[in-house]
Amino acid sequence: MKKRVFSGIQPTGDTHIGNYLGATKHWAARQDEYDNIFCIVDLHAITTPQEPEVLKAKIREVTGLLLAVGIDTERSIVFIQSHVPAHSELAWILNCFTPMGWMQRMTQYKEKSKNQESVSTGLFDYPALMAADILLYDTDVVPVGEDQKQHVELTRDIAQRFNAIYGDTFVLPSPVIPDIGARIMGLDDPEKKMSKSEPGSNHAINLLDPPDVITNKIKRAATDSLRDIVYDENRPGVYNLLVIYELFTGKSRQEIVDHFAGKGYADLKKELAEVVIEGLSPIQKKYADLTADPGYLDSLMAKGAEQAIPLAEKVLTRVKDTIGLG
Ligand code: TYM
Repeated sequence: MKKRVFSGIQPTGDTHIGNYLGATKHWAARQDEYDNIFCIVDLHAITTPQEPEVLKAKIREVTGLLLAVGIDTERSIVFIQSHVPAHSELAWILNCFTPMGWMQRMTQYKEKSKNQESVSTGLFDYPALMAADILLYDTDVVPVGEDQKQHVELTRDIAQRFNAIYGDTFVLPSPVIPDIGARIMGLDDPEKKMSKSEPGSNHAINLLDPPDVITNKIKRAATDSLRDIVYDENRPGVYNLLVIYELFTGKSRQEIVDHFAGKGYADLKKELAEVVIEGLSPIQKKYADLTADPGYLDSLMAKGAEQAIPLAEKVLTRVKDTIGLG
């Protein structure tokens, strides 16, 4: 039997090449290896304030982009989180088995709540909903970027704690993080992870950016005052650009360093822009085709929810029986 994969993506902000290189590209590439479930996590999106019309549009956009990068609904279940009520229900149950101290240690919460007057309880509780997403499908493998690893480990801890009290109920999931590209950095500030919520027009390359925008963003990307083009993690700007180049071309590091020997940052940026534009062009074309008929995506998502609901209900019933509900 194939191992079960589950992963999710938030429909907030603009989906960028960090999401693609760190996560969705791998989901698409390994679909035949696993039994896959991918989720557009709209309930996670509302942990921070959202405009209803924008949220609706973003749910559609992220759905279209998942399919455009190659997720195939014949080989993977793809659905919208709020269409499957078991997610909220299991999240509540898991809350009751998760010590506050575990949640308080979460790096993402600490970062996102910093300098904020009033963050929602939902933002604090976000990892319990993520644990519910994963545990509801008896997931073995959770492919994510580096920033989500801690949440998957917390999910494992919650499952272990529950199993220790009640006996084996949950499958213990493991995070899978790509060797290269697990943490693509912002172009404007290579000390910061490329993020959907970061302001600044030059921070991220978005999957739907037109060619001239991509070229300009890369042109303005922060580098350093040195000259040679080599992989050196202590020079995060150039390192990040080289990693992006490597992932879009599939070339080895040696080939890349040899290729840029004696050339300058302007050459690196020019060639990087070309390969990114070329790499994103088929995704953008496919996205345009998929979204030309709005009813098409809706019907696929209705089918996805229909497939997910019985799987989720089965595990939820198991959990409720175990703890004496119902
Ligand atoms: P989200 O929507 O922030 O990101 C989606 C995926 O993209 C990865 N990612 C990155 N990878 C490399 N470099 C970056 N700069 C970068 N930025 C984002 C993320 O690690 C993620 O894999 N909480 C999750 C969504 C979620 C989920 C789940 C994931 C909800 N439930 C269950 C897995 C399993 C999130 O906000 O991802």
